[in-house]
Amino acid sequence: MQTVIPVPIPQNAYKVVLAAGGLRQIGAIFQDAALVSPNLGKKILIVSNPKIWKHYGEAALSALQAAGFDVACCILPAGERYKTLRSIEKIFDSALAHRLERSSTMVALGGGVIGDMTGFAAASWLRGIAVVQIPTTLLAMVDASIGGKTGVNHPQGKNLIGAFHQPRLVLIDPETLDTLPTREFRAGMAEVIKYGVIWDPDLFEQLEDFSRIDQRRSFSMELLMEMLRRSCQAKVDVVSQDEKEAGLRAILNYGHTIGHAIESLTHYRTFNHGEGVGLGMMAVGHIAAQLGLWSQDCCDRQYRLIRKVGLPVQLPTDFETDAVLEMLTADKKVKAGRVRFIMPHNIGMVKITDEVPNDAILAALREMQAA
Ligand code: NAD
Ligand code: GLY
Repeated sequence: MQTVIPVPIPQNAYKVVLAAGGLRQIGAIFQDAALVSPNLGKKILIVSNPKIWKHYGEAALSALQAAGFDVACCILPAGERYKTLRSIEKIFDSALAHRLERSSTMVALGGGVIGDMTGFAAASWLRGIAVVQIPTTLLAMVDASIGGKTGVNHPQGKNLIGAFHQPRLVLIDPETLDTLPTREFRAGMAEVIKYGVIWDPDLFEQLEDFSRIDQRRSFSMELLMEMLRRSCQAKVDVVSQDEKEAGLRAILNYGHTIGHAIESLTHYRTFNHGEGVGLGMMAVGHIAAQLGLWSQDCCDRQYRLIRKVGLPVQLPTDFETDAVLEMLTADKKVKAGRVRFIMPHNIGMVKITDEVPNDAILAALREMQAA
C-alpha cells in the first residue's frame, strides 16, 4: 500500500510518500529518482532518540547500508525539554565526526521534536544540506514533518529560534504507529480534527461516522492510510500556496494560540501539544458561537469529536483564565500589537481576525473550567 502526495512548493518541490512497511524499504525509496530527485549523496546522519531507535533504528540503518549508503547516527535524549540549541550542537558534533558534506543528508527518525531539531540542524550545517523527514508520531506525520518549519525552543518561549527548510522527502510508514502510546496517538488526532474544521469537511464527517477514533486499533490499515492521506493533503494544499506564512498558512494555527497559552500556563506538565490544541480549538469554538460566527450546532459537533478522540475537554479548576490574556499578547502570532485568531465559520471554513474581545475569551475559558 503506497500513496504519493506531491508538494509543489516553487523551487522546493518534494513528495510525501505514505507506505505501510516503508521504513524497511528506505534504501530503495531513497534511490528512487521518481520519489527523490536529485539523488541523495552517499553520507547520511540519522537523528533519533533512544525510544524510537530501540523500535526502528536497526531496520532503518540496515536498509540504508544494504543500499550502499554510509550511515552514522546521533541519538538525543527524548522530550520537548531537550529541543534546545545544546541538542543542535550535538547534531553538529556528529555531523563533524561523520564528515558530512554539502551533498550529505540528515534523516529525522522520530516525532515532531526530533523532526524540528534535525530540520534546523540541516538548515544551518554548511549553510544548508538535505533533510529527509521520517515521522513516527501521528502528529508529526500529519503536521510537523510537512512544510519546512524547523527550530528549537528558547528558555523564554517555544520555537522562537528556527528556519524554514523544506525536506527533500517525507516518508510516512503508518506501521510505526503500532508502538506509539495511545496518549500520543490522541494528540495527533487533534491535528486531524483541525484539518476537518479548517479545510476538509468530508474528513470531519468521516471522523464523525467512525464508531471509534480514540486509538490506533480503532482503524484498519486502509482507513488509517485514508485518514493520513487526507490530512497530509490538507497540509500540503495550504503550505504549497503560502510557504512562508504570508497569509493563508496561518490557518494551520487554528486552536494553537490559546492552546499554547494553556500548555505554557500549566508548565507543559499537564497537557501535551495535541491536548493543548484540542482545548484551544474548543475555546475558539465557544468564542465563535458566542460571537455568532458559527452555529451552536457546529460548535457542539467539534466538541463531540474532540471528546470522542479521548482528548481532555476541561481546564483544571485552579487554572488562571486571566493569565491567558497576558500570554496571548506575548505570542509570536501578535501582529502590530493585536492578537490574530483563526476563527471557525463553518465545518471546513475558518477566517483570520484580530477582533476578538477579551470578555469572549474569558467567558469561553470559564465555560471550559465549569464543563
Ligand atoms: P514528540 O516528538 O515529543 O514525540 C512524543 C513521544 O512519542 C516522545 O516521547 C517520543 O519518543 C515518542 N515516540 C515517537 N514515535 C514513537 C513511536 N513510533 N513509538 C513509540 N514512541 C514514539 O512529540 P510530537 O507530538 O511528535 O511533536 C511535538 C513537537 O512538534 C513540538 O515540539 C512542536 O513544537 C512540534 N511541531 C512542529 C510543527 C512544524 O510544522 N514543524 C508542527 C506541529 C508541531
Ligand atoms: N504547524 C503549523 C505550520 O506548519 O504552519
